[in-house]
Amino acid sequence: MTEHNIYPIYDRMMTRQDKERLLRQRGVMIWFTGLSGSGKSTIALGVERELHQRGLLCRILDGDNIRTGINAGLGFSAEDRHENIRRIAEVGKLFVETGIITLAAFVSPTNEYRQLARDIIGAEDFLEVFVSTPLEVCERRDVKGLYARARRGEVKDFTGISAPFEAPEHPALCIDTSQQPLETSVQQVLELIISQQP
Ligand code: ADX
Repeated sequence: MTEHNIYPIYDRMMTRQDKERLLRQRGVMIWFTGLSGSGKSTIALGVERELHQRGLLCRILDGDNIRTGINAGLGFSAEDRHENIRRIAEVGKLFVETGIITLAAFVSPTNEYRQLARDIIGAEDFLEVFVSTPLEVCERRDVKGLYARARRGEVKDFTGISAPFEAPEHPALCIDTSQQPLETSVQQVLELIISQQP
């Protein structure tokens, strides 16, 4: 007698390899990390356009589509950030296994959170891009006015002000957006992605 399989559909699902052959590309996770306002999403948007132009399918995951949807209800305590990153990594893994070049732009402030994401996604599919724009620059930009509010004590646990940010130890790429134009940063990430493609 065969063992009862409670997930019978997995026996019939097509493989990642099938998907990648269909798309003629390799799925990979580009994991941006950096302070709020460092330029993660802006770079990701530029990379998305360039990939699209080259016929490569990608998907951006960022606060706009994740924290308003699947992760609405999560805040910025250590527990909530952990759960935020865990869910993003699980969702991202589904994209990567569909052969999609996935660009995740989240503060993901500690080595522990990034390691969690790497463990879920798999180290061979996980490329870390550290957007290292200094705090002073991010704070000067203050695109969302959150730094000013954090300094006034109106936003608690704000990364860089009242909550920690640890620089990653071995990022695949390090980009300081105060030192180079956006196009250069986009090209650097693009080259990294293309080096992973068949
Ligand atoms: S993470 O730490 O859990 O990875 P995530 O990238 O999803 O953070 O969200 C960060 C964004 O939420 C920031 O760019 C900022 O706009 C906003 N935000 C609101 N409150 C905070 C806070 N306390 N710390 C950091 N970012 C915050």
